[in-house]
Amino acid sequence: MKTNVVIIGGGPSGLLLSQLLNKAGIGTVVLERRSRDYVLSRIRAGVLESGTVDLLRRAGCDARMDREGHPHEGCYLSTERGMFRVDFRDLCDNEVMVYGQTEVTEDLYAAQDAIGATIVHEAMEVMPHDLDGSPYVTYEKDGETHRIACDFVAGCDGYHGVSRTVIPADRKHEIERVYPFGWLGILSRTKPAADELIYANHPRGFALASMRNENLSRYYIQVPMEDDPDKWSDDAFWAELKRRLPDEVADTMETGASIDKSIAPLRSYVCTTMRHGALFLAGDAAHIVPPTGAKGLNLAMSDIHYLSEGLLAWYGSGEASGLETYSDRALLRVWRAIRFSWWMTSILHRYPQQDEFDQRMQEMELENLRDLDAARRAMALNYVGLPL
Ligand code: APR
Ligand code: PHB
Repeated sequence: MKTNVVIIGGGPSGLLLSQLLNKAGIGTVVLERRSRDYVLSRIRAGVLESGTVDLLRRAGCDARMDREGHPHEGCYLSTERGMFRVDFRDLCDNEVMVYGQTEVTEDLYAAQDAIGATIVHEAMEVMPHDLDGSPYVTYEKDGETHRIACDFVAGCDGYHGVSRTVIPADRKHEIERVYPFGWLGILSRTKPAADELIYANHPRGFALASMRNENLSRYYIQVPMEDDPDKWSDDAFWAELKRRLPDEVADTMETGASIDKSIAPLRSYVCTTMRHGALFLAGDAAHIVPPTGAKGLNLAMSDIHYLSEGLLAWYGSGEASGLETYSDRALLRVWRAIRFSWWMTSILHRYPQQDEFDQRMQEMELENLRDLDAARRAMALNYVGLPL
């Protein structure tokens, strides 16, 4: 078998790349280790930057997003001194779209089906080879080994994928920060607590009130990483969440059974090489951000913007500069988002070793946001997404 680009991983990165390339007549094969149902059962964040929305439009995946997504022109920050709003429209004339990553992935699968794209699910033992010569990828399916010759390999297989591991240790540098807490998250069929997201700094720890639609809410609370989600009853979760949200929100919010309850670790990670010969890494395969600020999916989408541009130019006119500069261009934007999500994490969470000085600095960061247009504007620009 032969194709132009083999894409390892059928998450949002891999699917968006495949869709943009297929639409331009470039052949792809997507190799995904899991079943489609499994991929679509993963619950992830739900805030799309305006650039992500534009990219999804270009990919032809905007009809349901426009019907069911919710544009948000601001968000709330809550502290012990009360709640205030960051108005994205006012501060930078932009907005975000609240629309779940699961929905984005479903729409991308539907778009891929509509153009007859090749997606192999339950492809096991996927392995790229000869990346400095004549690249090919092998995989196993139903007990048989398959081999696909290609021009390029896109490593879109997430943090635990195989792609990054084939880059030799002396050709990559990895930088990491692990945060000393996790997020316990639930989804519930309840009316959202507020009209926009609430990010709360509270002495008991961070809390986030988010949503998917009018009758589906997503909430998170900061917990010690060692906590067991099964030991958190729904009642205990709601009680703790309410303590951390402003009284006026807690007193009126609707509660109900949780649909999903899990703890996610918080980490920042960057692989400082996103290219190795014919292999290009994109999305979680190359970098991880903590969820504060919802940059994970958006960064994955911006990588695909740069990578698809490079590949389209190469196949269109033989112009190689887009591919040659891919890693540097993508990484510049990655580091900006790494900084922003680290900063948002640091001003909103309680750290185990936080002393009085750290505490005061955190409070002043939040007071700056409350009082200074310039501080709010810097936050708004980053939150809605820096230009591609
Ligand atoms: N072979 C084939 N597929 C693989 C392999 C492998 N060895 N390893 C992982 N995969 C698949 C996973 O099953 C998954 O479906 O690659 C896919 C990677 O998808 P994601 O982890 O969703 O990563 P990505 O597409 O880069 O999406 C970006 O944004 O909000 C964040 O972390 C969140 O998933 C999100 C990400
Ligand atoms: C979510 O809705 O899941 C969400 C929203 C904003 C974040 C993180 C997660 O910063």
